[in-house]
Amino acid sequence: MKVIEAKQIVRSYGSGPTAFQALKGVDLTIEKGESVAIIGKSGSGKSTLMHILALLDQPTSGECKLFEEETTAIKKKALNKLRNETFGFVFQQFFLNPKDTVLDNVVLPLKIAGITGKRRKAMAMQALAAVELADKAQNKANDLSGGQKQRVCIARALVNQPEIIFADEPTGNLDSTTGEKVEELLFKLNKDQGITLIIVTHDPDLAARCDRQIKIKDGLVEVA
Ligand SMILES: Nc1ncnc2c1ncn2[C@@H]1O[C@H](COP(=O)(O)OP(=O)(O)OP(=O)(O)O)[C@@H](O)[C@H]1O
Ligand SMILES: [Mg+2]
Repeated sequence: MKVIEAKQIVRSYGSGPTAFQALKGVDLTIEKGESVAIIGKSGSGKSTLMHILALLDQPTSGECKLFEEETTAIKKKALNKLRNETFGFVFQQFFLNPKDTVLDNVVLPLKIAGITGKRRKAMAMQALAAVELADKAQNKANDLSGGQKQRVCIARALVNQPEIIFADEPTGNLDSTTGEKVEELLFKLNKDQGITLIIVTHDPDLAARCDRQIKIKDGLVEVA
């Protein structure tokens, strides 16, 4: 089953003579349960593409289907709900609320989804246990190490049992041992739960572990 289908995605930044086309007509299809690496040089358009696939940004033209359905006409509120229910995000910068506890950070997607007190705490604790951080639940997020923060992000990304996890340089800020742990976790989710993984990375080893690589060059998919 196709989870994502992008057709002729163009994304321009700015207008007039300074306009810049970061994506120039990208076509791609991602099947359920795949792990896909998006690779390419700095500035080639990987993050721009990921933001569009994750419905965080709209293309200037082209269409993006999620589960075979067109997404361009979805209203903002429904889009936020769809994103929250369907996707998990792991980015290089952690985007945790530093003053909140680890538990509160992980609970957030469940809160947004309207899941109530006890149940959401149980689900969040389960996700924290999966990343081996249950003992840090009551710590302030800010007090954790970089690798621990990244694992909290993974717990938050998996807590709502998403169909797809988007990760942009998930190991970019980590030492190799911690990065390896984070990788293990992501691939375990892919294997055990069939979560589709879409990972932007500069790391050739991480890219090689994925089922497939999509190489972006100057805003286009470079066909090997
Ligand atoms: N908001 C913006 N306004 C103008 N140009 C932008 C904007 N965001 C990105 N760009 C440009 O679009 C191009 C693609 O950027 P993008 O962030 O997608 O690259 P990337 O492949 O993710 O690079 P990196 O590996 O360095 O993260 C770059 O040339 C960048 O300067
Ligand atoms: Mg990027």
